[in-house]
Amino acid sequence: MIIITQEDEALIIMQITIIRPDDWHLHVRDDDALKYTVPFTAHQFSRAIIMPNLTPPNISTSQALAYRDRILAVTPEGSDFRPLMTLYLTDNTPADEIEKARQSGHVVAVKLYPAGATTNSDAGVTDITKCYKTLEALQKHNMPLLVHGEVTDPDVDVFDREKQFIDKVLTPTRKAFPELKIVFEHITTKDAVDYVLAEDKFTAATITPQHLLYNRNAIFKGGIRPHYYCLPVLKREEHRVALNKAASSGNTKFFLGTDSAPHAQNRKESACGCAGIFSAPLAIELYARAFDANNALDKLEGFASFYGADFYGIERNTETITLEKKDWVVPDSYPFLDGEIVPLHAGETESWQLV
Ligand code: NCD
Ligand code: ZN
Repeated sequence: MIIITQEDEALIIMQITIIRPDDWHLHVRDDDALKYTVPFTAHQFSRAIIMPNLTPPNISTSQALAYRDRILAVTPEGSDFRPLMTLYLTDNTPADEIEKARQSGHVVAVKLYPAGATTNSDAGVTDITKCYKTLEALQKHNMPLLVHGEVTDPDVDVFDREKQFIDKVLTPTRKAFPELKIVFEHITTKDAVDYVLAEDKFTAATITPQHLLYNRNAIFKGGIRPHYYCLPVLKREEHRVALNKAASSGNTKFFLGTDSAPHAQNRKESACGCAGIFSAPLAIELYARAFDANNALDKLEGFASFYGADFYGIERNTETITLEKKDWVVPDSYPFLDGEIVPLHAGETESWQLV
């Protein structure tokens, strides 16, 4: 990584150049929506792990490969963006589907959504022990299990669901499969940070820009703000601080996953608004701001561009991107299907810009 600071008379230009990053957790939706979502990510990232929670979900390798083709069809010319595909785990995913997935060369992980935990998760897992044969196959093929780490019991407080998931699901699963690669996705609490730190090299975690930059006050600042609502929901400040410490520590277990989750403006600004924050247009800039605030820009490259690839066992990228410290105003919205979509930090000043 290169940091350049040029000082002219009154002007200080600061640039950083890092290996092109990857996004290890991304939603791009499907069909007509793809041309509005994929180009943003292809512009910033070299590869992205594509979440399978479509309607209906991608439960088979053949579905994942067809979905990959639809994504590649809207990838801008000249871009060598590569979508890395995932399967949606159900109570009934056959164990031999994992072998097919591995052989495809394009499906690289399997996603566990506890049934009902989040957007399009109704077909998810009702009881993890029903999937043990499939998890055994994952462990054998060295393929990561990506987990949405929240229990779904409606009696559990929404702010406590991640912590309970650690105790009720993650800990027993780890005990049953000591060498299963697990990515604890979009972690939001100090509890999750501590859990990942205490585990061995088979456990890692992704962290989103919103969970680094905001605490739960953002959802209620001056009124209810649906564009700050995602799952797992933003937490208290002490948790945000713990996530920043983990991300900017240089610990290889923590890496970038935006969880950019596009929903049309009218589906967010509603009496029952969808969960999901759209960060794809300015994802790397948001992370740069967070690392800058921690005085840890020197740790951005490992987090954004190295540790995810290393954990998945995929080669690191070689091209670079450059970011400049320069104010710009984030658009209020972007076109999306028949309407608009509102990005994170809409209408506000961002302090880093991709050159
Ligand atoms: C995601 C979505 O909209 O698909 N929403 C979200 O709030 N993160 C689903 C998910 O990853 O939980
Ligand atoms: Zn997600």
